[in-house]
Amino acid sequence: MRLGVNIDHVATVRQARGGVEPDPFEAARVVAASGAHGITVHIRMDRRHIQESDIARIRQAELLPLNIEMAATEEMQAIATRYRPHKVTLVPEQPGEITTLGGLDCFRAPDAIRRFAALGTEFGMDVAVFIDPDAKQIEQAAGLGIQEIEIHTGEFAKNWPDAQRELAGIAHAARTAAALGMRVAAGHGLTVRNVVPILGIQAIEELNIGHHIISRAIFRGLEAAIREMLETIERAAFGGSRAKE
Ligand code: PXP
Repeated sequence: MRLGVNIDHVATVRQARGGVEPDPFEAARVVAASGAHGITVHIRMDRRHIQESDIARIRQAELLPLNIEMAATEEMQAIATRYRPHKVTLVPEQPGEITTLGGLDCFRAPDAIRRFAALGTEFGMDVAVFIDPDAKQIEQAAGLGIQEIEIHTGEFAKNWPDAQRELAGIAHAARTAAALGMRVAAGHGLTVRNVVPILGIQAIEELNIGHHIISRAIFRGLEAAIREMLETIERAAFGGSRAKE
């Protein structure tokens, strides 16, 4: 099982101030140093977190395989062509949504999906679609030349721990895709608790997890950051810089 860490929300905090910290590139370095297997970023049409300049730096550093999530638009196709990441994951995007609300409807814009699949072949990029655990969607994606799916686990996560039906649906979808020769990833809303039953689904080879990891990082790191500031204040006091005033 590979873990791709989605670092979007490091950029969300940076954008809240419009400054330079925290830097998603630093986050990408930590992801690489932590033993994860991939870096995932979602470039949104409104650029509310990850910017193209972040992608440029992360891509150039070749830290780990880079997965860029994007809508299947011409603007995003140009970005995929410019940076040629290891993987592009096509996601639906609706103006004003707080997060991705569901899987891509592969019946809705088949030509765009076909174009991305062809782009992947041309530039040696994997192209995945983020879809609901629905056999019809998976078969349609395969028919459009897509060789990888990421199963949307959002409904499962929302209903957890009463999510047996959703879990069975994900397992069935993963088997359906694997039987069609597709690679299978999963993600959205996963946590250290609800990921456990997902890990029991053999066909799933990769997870993409963001919000929970970044949220946990705050409480794993907050005490250390406060202590660092207190030590700085104390050092200044004992060094005499306050006494001089
Ligand atoms: N996979 C896809 C396709 C996503 O759009 C997202 C959210 O950007 C994730 C995985 C990660 O979801 P979460 O942040 O809830 O872990």
